[in-house]
Amino acid sequence: MRHLMSPLDFSVEELNQLLDLANDIEANPEKYAHACEGKKLATLFYEPSTRTRLSHEAAMLNLGGSVLGFSNADSSSAAKGESVADTIRMASCYADICALRHPKEGAAMVAAQNASIPVINAGDGGHQHPTQTLTDLLTIRSLKGRLDHMTIGLCGDLKFGRTVHSLIHALVRYPGLQFILISPEELRLPGYMRKDVLDRGGFPYKEVVRLEDALPHLDILYMTRVQKERFFNEDDYVRMKDFYILDAKKMKLARPDMLVLHPLPRVNEIAVEVDSDPRAAYFRQVQYGVYVRMALILTLLEIKV
Ligand code: NCD
Repeated sequence: MRHLMSPLDFSVEELNQLLDLANDIEANPEKYAHACEGKKLATLFYEPSTRTRLSHEAAMLNLGGSVLGFSNADSSSAAKGESVADTIRMASCYADICALRHPKEGAAMVAAQNASIPVINAGDGGHQHPTQTLTDLLTIRSLKGRLDHMTIGLCGDLKFGRTVHSLIHALVRYPGLQFILISPEELRLPGYMRKDVLDRGGFPYKEVVRLEDALPHLDILYMTRVQKERFFNEDDYVRMKDFYILDAKKMKLARPDMLVLHPLPRVNEIAVEVDSDPRAAYFRQVQYGVYVRMALILTLLEIKV
């Protein structure tokens, strides 16, 4: 039985197969409409979510399966003190596969160790968010036609942003990529990511503070929100929250074929006026998130269509 804890759980070849499957689902949705009939997905969400929970649920419903779950720890037995290990044992009796989001790093791993069904890590604290990474890879590959030989700017809260950590882990396996890490000093990519992932792999990257300095060089700009819920003190959050605001004026510095991605939710970091720029790809990214989760569910349940 296979789980998804980190994007590294799939080899590059397996990832390519998964993305091919997602593109086939996009092109021929009716072919997959009954693939999961009789199967159930449990969504166990201990942290707020809109896209990740709903896109897992939409994915299972599009495959003809059904869904159950909770979207708030307070409405589950976690409020009575039940452990993740016990909750996942229950879910294993009710469902065939589950997606779990939890504020603690490593919670998904604990769930996987105690589950008798495949577990999808739908975000564990500031650590990993592998299904967002699958979404990002599918978006880039579908809209750019490749995942190699590009300059990718990652901007915003690189310290606490789990989507950035997962995406870097996944991308360092493709040739010819360069990263420009754009963040204030306080929100730099953690040392363990810089040293263990980028430096150790001899991977080319630059760190800059000003978005304007990076913009003209980028093929992809991956914007992120400042992760309010992971700050220890409100004043630090308030100081950082509007550090970057991408607006129409700044977009003039970017290449005509640069794509803007964002895992969403956006707060202030992308002005609404950018939404109508053809380079804004963040709402298309949401749609790709459903196709790739459909492909993931089929892959983990080992259902061939
Ligand atoms: C992200 C997350 O939860 O980490 N959201 C999402 O799943 N699309 C990004 C965020 O919350 O900023």
